[in-house]
Amino acid sequence: MGIDVTGVLKEEHQLILRMIALVDANVGLMERGQFRNWQFYLDAVDFIRNYADRFHHAKEEDVLFVELVRNGMPEKNSPVEAMHIEHEQGRAFVRGMEEAVEKVMAGETGQIQLIAKNARGYVELLRGHIDKEDTILYPLAERVLPENVRSGMLTGYSAAEKQMPGLEEKYRRLVEKYEK
Ligand SMILES: [Fe+2]
Ligand SMILES: [Fe+2]
Repeated sequence: MGIDVTGVLKEEHQLILRMIALVDANVGLMERGQFRNWQFYLDAVDFIRNYADRFHHAKEEDVLFVELVRNGMPEKNSPVEAMHIEHEQGRAFVRGMEEAVEKVMAGETGQIQLIAKNARGYVELLRGHIDKEDTILYPLAERVLPENVRSGMLTGYSAAEKQMPGLEEKYRRLVEKYEK
């Protein structure tokens, strides 16, 4: 094995898992009436949309998955398709969470259960998703992707990073702030 093309993605999973752990813990507190910081959920939605989705999932969808398909993985009925579907399911949970939080902030009642349902749905989905990528899809990619596409993939990743300068630092700080 030569150039590693999944290590950077695995590292990003670690920050995503830290945000997910915060969501999980705060939902539990919220259900016991001990957490009413609605802004946290909006910040979590912002993190998920920009860091997890626009940044991390874009690297997967625009670079890694594309190379896997170019190198023989079918686009349909395949691990790549399954991962795409889970990214979409995640987006739906995030929309549901955001809508319920906006309602509660506008004074509507009965939203706690909806926040919890969507937040937990996202937490469970993403934990399973990240586990599958870390233990199945990424090791498979490292086995099957030829050496001559790998440096181009890293260039593709850094193009995504350059489009959003300072993003990684910003969201790392956000996670650290809520972990305190
Ligand atoms: Fe993914
Ligand atoms: Fe991922």
